[in-house]
Amino acid sequence: MTPDYEKEHLARLRPHLAECAVLLKSDGSFPLEEPCEIAAYGSGVRCTVKGGTGSGEVNSRQFVTVEEGLKKAGFTVTSSEWLDGYDIIRAEAKKAFIRRLQAEAKAAKVNYIFYSMGKVIPEPEYSLPMKAAGETAIYVLSRISGEGNDRTPEQGDFRLTAGEKRDILFLNRRYKRFMLVLNTGGPVDLSEVQEIGNILVLSQLGVETGSALADILLGLENPSGKLAATWCSTEEIPSIGEFAEPEDTRYREGVYVGYRYFCSIGARPLYPFGFGLSYTEFDLKNENVTLTGSIVTASVTVTNKGDRPGKEVVQLYLGAPQGRLDKPARSLAAFAKTKELLPGESQTLKLSFDMRGQASYDEGAAAYVLEAGDYVLYAGNSSADTCAAACIRLGREVPVRQVRNAFGNPGFEDWKPETAHAPTLSGDIPQFMLDPASIVEEKPAYDTAEEIDDAVKPLKDEELAYLTVGRFVKNGGMFSVIGNASSHVAGAAGETTSMLLHCGIEPVVMADGPAGVRVSPTYYEDKKGAHSAGAAIPETFTTLLPPAKKLLVELLAGKRPIPRRAEVKTHYATALPVGTALAQSWNLDFARECGDIVGDEMERFGVHLWLAPALNIHRSLLCGRNFEYFSEDPLLSGLFAAAVTNGVQEHPGCGVTIKHFAANNQETNRYGNSSNVSERALREIYLRGFEICVRESQPRALMTSYNLINGVHTSERRDLTQDVLRSEFGFNGIVMTDWVVGGSGPEAKYPGPQAHRVIAAGGDLFMPGSQADYENIVKGRKEETLSRRQLEISATRVLRMAACLLEERHVREKR
Ligand code: BGC
Repeated sequence: MTPDYEKEHLARLRPHLAECAVLLKSDGSFPLEEPCEIAAYGSGVRCTVKGGTGSGEVNSRQFVTVEEGLKKAGFTVTSSEWLDGYDIIRAEAKKAFIRRLQAEAKAAKVNYIFYSMGKVIPEPEYSLPMKAAGETAIYVLSRISGEGNDRTPEQGDFRLTAGEKRDILFLNRRYKRFMLVLNTGGPVDLSEVQEIGNILVLSQLGVETGSALADILLGLENPSGKLAATWCSTEEIPSIGEFAEPEDTRYREGVYVGYRYFCSIGARPLYPFGFGLSYTEFDLKNENVTLTGSIVTASVTVTNKGDRPGKEVVQLYLGAPQGRLDKPARSLAAFAKTKELLPGESQTLKLSFDMRGQASYDEGAAAYVLEAGDYVLYAGNSSADTCAAACIRLGREVPVRQVRNAFGNPGFEDWKPETAHAPTLSGDIPQFMLDPASIVEEKPAYDTAEEIDDAVKPLKDEELAYLTVGRFVKNGGMFSVIGNASSHVAGAAGETTSMLLHCGIEPVVMADGPAGVRVSPTYYEDKKGAHSAGAAIPETFTTLLPPAKKLLVELLAGKRPIPRRAEVKTHYATALPVGTALAQSWNLDFARECGDIVGDEMERFGVHLWLAPALNIHRSLLCGRNFEYFSEDPLLSGLFAAAVTNGVQEHPGCGVTIKHFAANNQETNRYGNSSNVSERALREIYLRGFEICVRESQPRALMTSYNLINGVHTSERRDLTQDVLRSEFGFNGIVMTDWVVGGSGPEAKYPGPQAHRVIAAGGDLFMPGSQADYENIVKGRKEETLSRRQLEISATRVLRMAACLLEERHVREKR
């Protein structure tokens, strides 16, 4: 029986799913008036993808594929023969792919288990007859990706296969009504199918992905999503910066990421950032703009001019003057979404932002500055469809925040456009003078003294070391890190120490996200704790393994035969829309609601820290984990992360762990790759979302990234986690590492981080924790490479966070 909480969570999500879907093309032949015969083709009809692979995979009780969603909604799916044929082709393709990987692993002399993990079967070439009955057809194209591997610009991944292109174009001609549906976590190159009249980015929406499509086809819901990243063609992919280099990846493009690049070179990509159509049409009218101190407020009236209810998103962009520093032609400054507007109905939205947040980073002065000149405000409904709404003039340069340069020289100068893109001023727009005196320069206090908790002072170095590494069993040999890393909640990703129970220090349990709470769906308990009763690790991690190897991995991950008398219990989680889909809603209230659903399930399952939201920037559209992340824009990313955080943290004893800090933008050689990036691009693009999230929601925890920045591990960078994160951004939660479970060996250019160095740099928790990490800290103390005081500081933070979460939870449980 499905418990009420699952039903309730799904019911809350369902009406919002169409808000995450982006209509890229519409010729008026959809929505349909009623369910009908439908010829449904494509990989995503039966093998629909609800989310990506890896640690973010969520174990939900049920999942509605497109085929099921259509049938449930009353459609007659006429293409079963094609779908059965496709199943056989896919199974064959999988076998052939496994053979190929085995040969590659053998040739490279690497372990097949590790080699195959996270690899994705490219879409095969095939030709099946397409003659299903009906006047309406859809083609659902799916792609999946995830942790450990990047996407490829090849056919079958970013590009369509020759067969997909052929079939899509054929269906468009053959059927009276045709829609191309993209069940992908990120962009595909649509340049070759531009003659299609209806294209929908359905995305990957969790449990009800198939139902959401049926709702949209029938017009029960009107898609109102807007792209959270630029969708361009292969030819348009920017090639200034490097991507997927094995050791050093140079971010030569500087601040010109995504739409900032396209707007600055005056080019319109295939589908720009912020773009999305609707079944209805809207009219946007700029009402008035005001400037109060440094706060800009614009009022925009949106009117529904069509004949269906719908929602629209208004976006404000700022074009900063070109001065000593070159600037992108547009940067998102604010956005807002209307309520559902009935035909003919209007709503005036008020959008505000602070000019201080628009400052550029001047490395020479180690300061955020607003340069003198004209700042042009644009309003519109995509980054490429705006008109000037006001001009804000600043008479002299104003320092906004004086900081310290932290990150060193990446070894190159950032790219900039050959000709600076001058702001275009159209018509008679209001002009304002920004008073420099309205901006008071901020000066963060660095190196402030930290308090040590009384409970920490009497503890021995060894006990403090327990507190600062995750859970491990002393002399317990290899311990699972993916399946049963928590002894309290089966399938959780980790927990803090249980070695200090005698001192009254209980463990805090952490489970993955971001598309829901990742725990084992079935489990049993004995005196040693909770154990997975089903698959111990994500299905997608083992799908390419032959049965014997799969069993071996499951055993290593802690799976044990279920004792005869054991009672098997369940805790199914709700699979939410993936991060990018959520951001495509541009609806912060919905993001907060998703956080609320997560918080509710964390309480039920006994989880204290959620390892999400993830808010890295979509720097390249080929990053394998982009679907987990929100956007290419830091404001959108930061505000969505904050909204989700607020939703989760309203629940007593629940905290989030924002990740992966920072510049974690590729999966190729993820443990040993250095993101080489200028201080300016780091601060304006890659750290900015984290800054916004911290200031708006004070997350309880943060996870550093696997990658290095300019040759130093992020977890070993005191300048990053102490000076920037704590002193400048005001973070007061705990900092943990990503799951260091091997990583690059000593022979690599960049060997993995070491526990004592991480704590010495001001990190608090080395995860998931092993005896070797514990010993590394103890050794660090003996050799004085780690001071007693720093160890006490980190232990204090872990202890206080744990006490706070556990206390809140106990109070809640007593109520
Ligand atoms: C991932 C993290 C995740 C952790 C725990 C790592 O491999 O990068 O995002 O939270 O595993 O599962």
